[in-house]
Amino acid sequence: MSNDPNESEMPYDSCEDIGTPLNVQLCAKYKRSFAYVTMKDRLPIILTQVIDHMSREKENIVNEYGKEALEELKIAIGKISKLKNELQTNKPLILLEGNASDVTIWNAFLKQLKDEEGNDPRWFHSAWLATECYMYRRLREAFELTDTLTSFDPFRSKKQAALLDSLGTINVLCTYVKRLVEQQNCHCSTDIKNEFMKLLYVDLWGNRCDLSLSGGEKVLMEEDPLQKIGQLSEYILIDEAEKVWNTLAVNREKSDVIVDMVLDNAGYELYTDLCLADLLVTFSLASQVRFRAKVLPWYVSDVCIPDFQWALQILSNSENSEVSALANRWLGHMKSGKWVLCADEFWTLPHVFNQMQNVDPTLYQELSNAVLMIIKGDLNYRKLTGDINWEPTKPFSEALSEFRPTNIAALRTLKADTICGLLAGQAEDTAAKSSEWLISGQYAVVQYSSL
Ligand code: F6P
Ligand code: MG
Repeated sequence: MSNDPNESEMPYDSCEDIGTPLNVQLCAKYKRSFAYVTMKDRLPIILTQVIDHMSREKENIVNEYGKEALEELKIAIGKISKLKNELQTNKPLILLEGNASDVTIWNAFLKQLKDEEGNDPRWFHSAWLATECYMYRRLREAFELTDTLTSFDPFRSKKQAALLDSLGTINVLCTYVKRLVEQQNCHCSTDIKNEFMKLLYVDLWGNRCDLSLSGGEKVLMEEDPLQKIGQLSEYILIDEAEKVWNTLAVNREKSDVIVDMVLDNAGYELYTDLCLADLLVTFSLASQVRFRAKVLPWYVSDVCIPDFQWALQILSNSENSEVSALANRWLGHMKSGKWVLCADEFWTLPHVFNQMQNVDPTLYQELSNAVLMIIKGDLNYRKLTGDINWEPTKPFSEALSEFRPTNIAALRTLKADTICGLLAGQAEDTAAKSSEWLISGQYAVVQYSSL
């Protein structure tokens, strides 16, 4: 496989003017797919925004990273412009450089892709999941190979603004959750169940707020997310929240009940994750919640360790005494070990979850020790279910294939054209109501699979 993207041209207008056929992986080579729109329009916009941000913020970046960073910043901008050009002209994907621990895995993956496809993998011709993940990994490379900018996150300010812009909603939610967890005046299991359901749905709809779909534009939530739950219920196409509750209820009060939460977006969505996680440890539904964050800037708004830490810190310094008290309580959970924050390399690899057992057996084993794994968001759902254009009635448990570390709950608003587990006719009925039902984030699913 070559390291030179210029070696051969293959314009993307060689893509086929059809939708994604059934039972194949999503791919930009099908022009009537969301993958194609993403490759052609959305990703170049995201890269352009990164370049603009770096050019505009040059002075601030130099202030933060030192004057030696200026030269490296210019080089990084050049590399990102080149990356954008490679994408837009459908060049072959080149191998990653450097000594980071995931480089070997990535390059082996790219070589295998070439073997499977019989050609050099290309932006518009190879699996969408692989190419889009690759774009974020190449973006990371532009900083990783510098001396001064290794910790630079081009999306940091967007992620921070996403939290600060939703403080109105956060205040409302905080008042409710603080009272709930501090007073603990839910005495019977029915009360706890009701509260669990509420916060699960709030957490589900929190996933509407990702900055990758909106091309980096703000996505604001309603003022009172708890009041909205009822109105939104008709948009939940599959609701297996009851089964999620049952799994937690049978293990209630037991020791060593771990719940893994595979995080998605920073900002408001993260806040809703934390509210749910507080309920889990407060009402003995879990003895520990492990948050699984990303190791590198990912799909614009995904949570990395510094984003999580920054959020808790900012909230604990809030002028709103309820917000700061709740955040301090959460810092206490971190200190006591009720909450644990991890960042695992696997989530930023291009592999579907079904390959985890081979690629990262240690992580698979860790997840197996949990009673429940809550998987947030659209991209995680795509990886969980193989990123295939399934027949919409394909059973969820079958789409998971061999991925069975523990009981699984997927909470996702629909932002990509793949779905499984629907009833016969449900896809057609929903499409008749909204042609964009699969990609707009308007609809959602709570899907469950037991071990
Ligand atoms: O761009 C690919 C994609 O999966 C979209 O379909 C989706 O909008 C976005 O990335 C990520 O969404 P989420 O933050 O919910 O994973
Ligand atoms: Mg995301």
